[in-house]
Amino acid sequence: MGSSDDKLRRLKSEGDLNLSEHRAAWTREKLDAQTLDWLEEDARYFMHQALSTPCLDVLKSCDGIYIEDLQGHRFMDFHGNNVHQVGFRNRRVIEAIQAQMEVLPFCTRRYTNIPAIQLAKKLAELAPGDLNRVLFAPGGTTAIGMALKLARAATGRFKTISMWDSFHGASLDAISIGGESIFRSGAGPLLPGTEHVLPPDTYRCVWGCGGECSLKCADYVEYVLEKEGDVGAVIAETVRSTSLVPPSGYWEAVRAACDKHGALLILDEIPHALGRTGKMFTCEHYNVVPDMLVIGKGLGGGIFPLAALIAREHLNLAPKQALGHYTHEKNPVACAAALATIESIQQDGLLENAEKVGSYALGRLRSMMREHTVIGEVRGLGLLLGMELVKDRVTREPAADDAERVMYSALRKGLSFKVTMGNVITLTPPLTITMAEMSTGLDILKTSLSEL
Ligand SMILES: Cc1ncc(COP(=O)(O)O)c(C=O)c1O
Repeated sequence: MGSSDDKLRRLKSEGDLNLSEHRAAWTREKLDAQTLDWLEEDARYFMHQALSTPCLDVLKSCDGIYIEDLQGHRFMDFHGNNVHQVGFRNRRVIEAIQAQMEVLPFCTRRYTNIPAIQLAKKLAELAPGDLNRVLFAPGGTTAIGMALKLARAATGRFKTISMWDSFHGASLDAISIGGESIFRSGAGPLLPGTEHVLPPDTYRCVWGCGGECSLKCADYVEYVLEKEGDVGAVIAETVRSTSLVPPSGYWEAVRAACDKHGALLILDEIPHALGRTGKMFTCEHYNVVPDMLVIGKGLGGGIFPLAALIAREHLNLAPKQALGHYTHEKNPVACAAALATIESIQQDGLLENAEKVGSYALGRLRSMMREHTVIGEVRGLGLLLGMELVKDRVTREPAADDAERVMYSALRKGLSFKVTMGNVITLTPPLTITMAEMSTGLDILKTSLSEL
């Protein structure tokens, strides 16, 4: 494997490489002339950007946990961009959308509508503590932007602390707090005052607590809060999409440090809220109530783009400032889709299913780790699962090429997933997945690992 591929992989941490020789081999082997023609048209008319062109394949349909391409290949979708909590083409969601489209498909600004009010009320009821005030946005990135503006309005401070390696969206404000070079480098001057710290990483901890974790990673957040003295907010993903779970006590310590130094705590749960980790909101695992919670992705039922900023009652303090003001802010169809999504999660027992199937899957991943030395670590919380491939368990050097081999081998067998940070096989299936389907998916993964 050429060193240029390795370099690209390090840079393109958010997704797997789409320019590697493994991708080229997949394209040659699996795609027919018609599909190649469509991919060529895609490349001809879309602006080329990192991680996008050339695309992997052309999709024709999706259903439940499956996606299907033009040639009729079916794949279990263990990625789904984290929008498919309730499965693709969920009947409840489709019927709610259809019914709403027949009566009020759009809500002119300055008016409101019942699905939007009901959804705001529902989220306020579900969210922990006094997270009672809601603003909607047409996407996660824009909701993050609203959170940053609200933090400035509430504290009179503009500085933030966020994490290296994090992702909060692709706009200029979001990449300023994000920590991935593929988004930041070459973008020009970013927002001032956006300081970054190392994320908590129980696996490759650099803090040297010595034997037992004494939360030096959280102490460092407090150190920066104290040194700066005027930080408005700490903003972070509660759990990273690479399923890096923070050490226990981390969020309580950061929450306390924020309170002590007058900073707000903003938790980005855009990909994982609404059940992925087995709880409606990920912060419920950690006994903390943030000042703001940002959710999105699956909120629109895997059909509509919709995100929400949910803030504590006392943050309803900027009535004269436009925090969001997006055209589709209170889109009634999107809100009807979200209400049906929440209903599905609750009535179909999807939180319980995520916990049950997730814990079965974690057990299977652990047993694969006993058989394959290339697996450096497995981790998971509900149906957010990760497997890190390494060249050596002592040095923990990433086995990026192996991760890609496993990914394409699994794809050939009907299982689709994403590789993040170059070597982390990330598995995020719909929460509707059955034990049998999970077992089939993991059999495929196991066979693909054996082929290395
Ligand atoms: C943690 C996190 N925050 C923010 C975003 C941005 O959301 P959107 O793509 O809906 O703007 C994403 C998207 O992947 C994400 O994973």
